[in-house]
Amino acid sequence: MDKDELLKQAEEAANHAYAPYSRFRVGAALLCEDGSVITGCNVENRSFGLTICAERNAVAKALSLGKSAFSAIAVSCPDSDVPVPPCGACRQVLSEFVSGTFPVHYRGRGPDSRSVSMDSLLPHDSLKNLKDRLGRG
Ligand code: THU
Repeated sequence: MDKDELLKQAEEAANHAYAPYSRFRVGAALLCEDGSVITGCNVENRSFGLTICAERNAVAKALSLGKSAFSAIAVSCPDSDVPVPPCGACRQVLSEFVSGTFPVHYRGRGPDSRSVSMDSLLPHDSLKNLKDRLGRG
């Protein structure tokens, strides 16, 4: 699956966002190694700190379906003028399951997208030793 198709699925997921407080919809599409795509959207709460980001929603959804091997993720923010990469918390959670070369594609409202590696989003992993200990690569 190419990145534009994955970004399109992310944008569709953003339509399901529950974001009445920020009015900032986010959709994520996680490509699994088995070829399936698991989407997620942000789900806000009036107790703001309980908000779930689109990317972490997609990761939790995938794990709960027994999928933990991923090939790429796309993030779409149709309410943003500029492409928006995953937030810090989502970078940390994604990095639990993917390698440093894992591709992250993201875009805002327009068609222009950016593509970066997990390594570039989360350099100097403070807990790399704990991940290495699991031997998951
Ligand atoms: N948000 C995400 O869903 N993913 C990100 O990586 C950045 C932030 C959501 C959280 C909140 O609902 C809204 O965007 C504004 O921060």
